[in-house]
Amino acid sequence: MGDRLRGKTALITGAGMGIGREAAQLFAAEGARVVVADIDAKAAKETVSRIEAAGGEALAVVGDVAMESDVERMVAEGVARLGGLHVLYNNAGVLWKDRDRSVLETDPAWWDRVMAINLKSVFWVTKHGIPHLQRAGGGSIVLMGSVSALVGFTRAQDAYTCAKGALISLTKSLAIQFAKDRIRCNIIHPGIVDTPLQAPYLTDQLRKEFETGIPIGRIARPREIANVALFLASEESSYMTGAELVVDGGFTAG
Ligand SMILES: NC(=O)c1ccc[n+]([C@@H]2O[C@H](COP(=O)([O-])OP(=O)(O)OC[C@H]3O[C@@H](n4cnc5c(N)ncnc54)[C@H](O)[C@@H]3O)[C@@H](O)[C@H]2O)c1
Repeated sequence: MGDRLRGKTALITGAGMGIGREAAQLFAAEGARVVVADIDAKAAKETVSRIEAAGGEALAVVGDVAMESDVERMVAEGVARLGGLHVLYNNAGVLWKDRDRSVLETDPAWWDRVMAINLKSVFWVTKHGIPHLQRAGGGSIVLMGSVSALVGFTRAQDAYTCAKGALISLTKSLAIQFAKDRIRCNIIHPGIVDTPLQAPYLTDQLRKEFETGIPIGRIARPREIANVALFLASEESSYMTGAELVVDGGFTAG
């Protein structure tokens, strides 16, 4: 166990699986009390069990991050049970390649749902979470972007791309607004990561194609993104705000 987040409480959305679960376990191992927020109750509870088995402290809160009332309740439950909030890691997101395609093909209802989960959720989490960071005397907000926001792909996912792009602007706005309160806000842009989000699409052939285009030669492990989230959540990044960290094995450097 380390102590890079000792004394802090971190709320992580989408912490039932993938990068969020990895981050929840890592943050807890570094001393944080973790509010594991997810729409999937079983997955959230499993993350909490793993944290508790390793000697950490966590609480599962269940709801849809796209719904303001759910987010308000999840934040309130976390604060009431774990005491205050210092870190808001807005990790939850969906990638529905079959329904979210080019603007020419996407059903408006799916566009709205992707935007609600990937973008509006951050509105709700920051709206209800920031007052607690202010009360705590400061904190760190971490957003999840994507390399999709930085480069175009021939296989379009336009709603996902737009949501991730808008998060870059929101990162800078939050950074400027809340620096006076000692609240920092930064965004991570992962390349492709081996998680349940990608699993339905990652055929062996597609994995090979992706890996050919990545200078490091492989897709990322969830821990490699969670490590960067830990850095941004902790005081080690105390002079960083409004920044974008690209974690893509060199994919966008070429
Ligand atoms: N995996 C990648 O290749 C990749 C690449 C770039 C960016 N990202 C971003 O990283 C973040 C995490 O991705 P991941 O790959 O770990 O995803 P994942 O699908 O493996 O896990 C996402 C978690 O979010 C939860 N979730 C989904 N919708 C929710 C909702 N409406 N309310 C509450 N919880 C909800 C799911 O239940 C799940 O536990 C996302 O924002 C994603 O866009 C992922």
